[in-house]
Amino acid sequence: MYRKITIKYWFFLAIICLVTCASYWLLWSEVRLESAIKPLNKLSRSSTSVDPHNSLTGVDFFDYDEQLVVLYNRVPKTGSTSFVNIAYDLCKKNKFHVLHINVTANMHVLSLPNQITFVRNITKWHQMKPALYHGHMAFLDFSKFQISKPIYINIVRKPLDRLVSYYYFLRYGDNYRPNLIRKKAGNKITFDECVELKQADCDPKNMWLQIPFFCGQAAECWEPGSKWALEQAKRNLVNEYFLVGVTEQMDNFIDLLERSLPRIFQGFREYYQHSNKSHLRQTTSKIPPREETIGEIMKSKIWQMEDELYKFALMQFEFNKRKLTVPDNKHLQKFMYEKIRPK
Ligand SMILES: *[C@@H]1O[C@H](CO)[C@@H](O)[C@H](O)[C@H]1NC(C)=O
Ligand SMILES: *[C@@H]1O[C@H](CO)[C@@H](O)[C@H](O)[C@H]1NC(C)=O
Ligand SMILES: *[C@@H]1O[C@H](CO)[C@@H](O)[C@H](O)[C@H]1NC(C)=O
Repeated sequence: MYRKITIKYWFFLAIICLVTCASYWLLWSEVRLESAIKPLNKLSRSSTSVDPHNSLTGVDFFDYDEQLVVLYNRVPKTGSTSFVNIAYDLCKKNKFHVLHINVTANMHVLSLPNQITFVRNITKWHQMKPALYHGHMAFLDFSKFQISKPIYINIVRKPLDRLVSYYYFLRYGDNYRPNLIRKKAGNKITFDECVELKQADCDPKNMWLQIPFFCGQAAECWEPGSKWALEQAKRNLVNEYFLVGVTEQMDNFIDLLERSLPRIFQGFREYYQHSNKSHLRQTTSKIPPREETIGEIMKSKIWQMEDELYKFALMQFEFNKRKLTVPDNKHLQKFMYEKIRPK
């Protein structure tokens, strides 16, 4: 009797063991199967949602503020130094970097190897981000380089004002670096006399600068009087630039930047209004040109084209300013999402 029970007992125990083991094995293999399939599932799902340009970070993790790169390809003598100096004064406080792009002999166009190096460098130089790069460099189209674009900004100035300013700057320097001897120091000929004598320094061809800066790196951009260059400059100005201000309205330019990109530009407006920086750089001994001189310059085709670009930029800028508070001119425009479906 006792023996029978023991045999039965052992037999029963063996069956329980077998069943338990079998079910464990089944469960385990299912887990393994699942874990073998899951990553594939994940892979196929994520590969459809990841932006190919941000395959490393993934679009959901892209930090727009911390990755911000603003490129200011400043045109000489447009008031750019005052603006850049605010950035230098506030970069530490706002925790961003300002970098000057120094090209051999102040060349405005970049060689092809330098284009590649520059574009890759500022895109990948993460220690510098957020960053404001500035330099006297013609527009460079980043979309040619299999790379994401920076935010372009610029400032334009009335072309004759800019030319006259530059003319006297080369002769007398400015209050920014008063002891630096300029290229034409000692030359006492006024702008009016220069125009009368038809000298090279006041040749309207010297005004061909804002158009090529906005037009870019193509040969045709640098052909004074090219209609194609003017059209290209206009197209780039609206399509490739986030904001283009005018020298005469620096405060509004700064205000729009601060509202749009506070990560870099916060506090700029306040600083510009309440520090001496706003009038920092003034060309010394600038004599306003006579009416006849202005009339003479306005006859030139180059001035007319440069003026067309300036007016085009001004119209665009005024429009951007107005859009902030349309339609009542009092309240900031708002936007929101609604009618979100399905619930
Ligand atoms: C640019 O670099 C050159 C060569 O190093 C230097 O002589 C020049 O002063 C620099 N230009 C500016 C504006 O700093
Ligand atoms: C960008 O260029 C600077 C100066 O040549 C260099 O120090 C830096 O390491 C470069 N950054 C990258 C990411 O290539
Ligand atoms: C402006 O500059 C002058 C002289 O450099 C100085 O005396 C004055 O305190 C400055 N004003 C402000 C608001 O910084």
